[in-house]
Amino acid sequence: MKIVVINGSNLNMLGIREPDIYGKETYSDLVEKIENHCKNEGIKVEIYQSNHEGDLVDRIQQCYGNADGIVINPGAYTHTSIALPDAIKAVGIKAVEVHISDVDSREDFRKISYVRSACIRTISGHGTDGYVEAIDFLKEQIG
Ligand code: DQA
Repeated sequence: MKIVVINGSNLNMLGIREPDIYGKETYSDLVEKIENHCKNEGIKVEIYQSNHEGDLVDRIQQCYGNADGIVINPGAYTHTSIALPDAIKAVGIKAVEVHISDVDSREDFRKISYVRSACIRTISGHGTDGYVEAIDFLKEQIG
C-alpha cells in the first residue's frame, strides 16, 4: 500500500509560522513523524510540499496509477482552489483532508473547504497527529 502526503502553501514554515496556532513542530519534524509511522505500519509513503497550486495539481495527477491513497493539507488553497478537488476526482483515489488547526472554529473564510468535496474524511484541529490519523483511516479503507 502506498500513500502520498501532499502539503500546500506555507506548511514548509511549520514551527516558525504562528506557533500559537500551528505548534512548534517543524516541517522536518512532521516528515519524520509520518515516515516513522508508515515504517512501523509497513506503508510506503511519499511526502510532498509546494507553495504553488499548479504544482499541487501536478503531484495529485502523478498519483494516478502510482498511489492507493492521498493525504492532503492544501493550506490556504483549501479555501480557494477548485483545481485541487477536480484533480483528486480526476485520479479517483481515496483522499483525506487534514488541517493542523481547527479550521471550523477560526475565521469564517476558513470554514469553506472546496477540497472537502473530493475527500472521504476531514481531520481538523488534531495538530500534526491528524496526518497519522488520516494514514490509519486510509489503511482501514484501502486494506
Ligand atoms: C491549515 C489551515 C488553513 O486555513 C491555513 O491557510 C493553513 C494551514 C491547517 O493546517 O490548519 O495554511 O490548512
